[in-house]
Amino acid sequence: MYDYDLLVVGSANADLVIGVERRPGAGETVLGSDLAVHPGGKGANQAVAAARLGARTALLARVGDDAHGRLLLDSQRAAGVDTAGVLVGGAPTGVALITVDPSGDNSIVVSPGANGRLTPADVRAAASLLHASRVVSAQLEIPLETVVEVVRGLAPDSRFVLNPSPPRPLPPEVLAACDPLIVNEHEAKVLLGEDGVEDGVEGSVSDAPEDWARLLLAKGPRSVVVTLGAEGALVASAQGVTRLPAVKVTAVDTTGAGDAFTAALAWRLGAGSSLAEAAAYASRVGAAAVTGQGAQDSFPTAAEVEAL
Ligand code: RIB
Repeated sequence: MYDYDLLVVGSANADLVIGVERRPGAGETVLGSDLAVHPGGKGANQAVAAARLGARTALLARVGDDAHGRLLLDSQRAAGVDTAGVLVGGAPTGVALITVDPSGDNSIVVSPGANGRLTPADVRAAASLLHASRVVSAQLEIPLETVVEVVRGLAPDSRFVLNPSPPRPLPPEVLAACDPLIVNEHEAKVLLGEDGVEDGVEGSVSDAPEDWARLLLAKGPRSVVVTLGAEGALVASAQGVTRLPAVKVTAVDTTGAGDAFTAALAWRLGAGSSLAEAAAYASRVGAAAVTGQGAQDSFPTAAEVEAL
């Protein structure tokens, strides 16, 4: 019935990556590795991750008419993503400046560029793509009003998945559509804001991810997933809260692992898995994704996930 298992509406960035012994503090200069340029961006990463797993995937995004834009389009097409919805022009392609330390942790600064020009009108013009997609996924490296338009344009029985990264307060209309809302610790705390403050104690946010999940659920999403890195993940819905163990691997570069997790989860949900089953599978995909350098280059195939 649907042409696509997953439509990703989101960002596409050229990732400019430097390895460092430690990330610099304010006012400090450190020397790092040679520069590597990889295709990235949370939306483009999700699309490549899903397609590599075997999902019929499309991307609605905007890139510049430049070398970075062509790098991103090539990467999408090589993974088998339908790029008919990728618009070109209006601003330079988004760029992410990334430092990665020896533990695999990263720091990222994004210049949105063309991502910031993906407008509600672009979403309305892509209505046929939205109606052809079983699951639609978004992030927040594109304008929030564009994400609102995505929610308004969903087919009646399609499913919406949101990773609110980078986080900002969300309107009730968007929160109510999320099934699930997928957050890490930082994103959970930003979205909870004052609601995460324990017993009215100023500045004291509960340390229990189960509490974050319950409080987030009370804000309107149909379900919530909290990713906890090496501590695994937990899923929450009206049926209750379930914690899932982490898959143990040695991290080389965590960039894009959350995007691979989200894409895998969205795809499995569309295929009929329960939230806990889909999150368990997504944890294995996310684990595989941290074992290689860069974002998209490290995403596994379904066979590689099975072998993990
Ligand atoms: O989630 C990882 C991504 O965040 C990187 O690829 C970078 O482009 C930023 O968007």
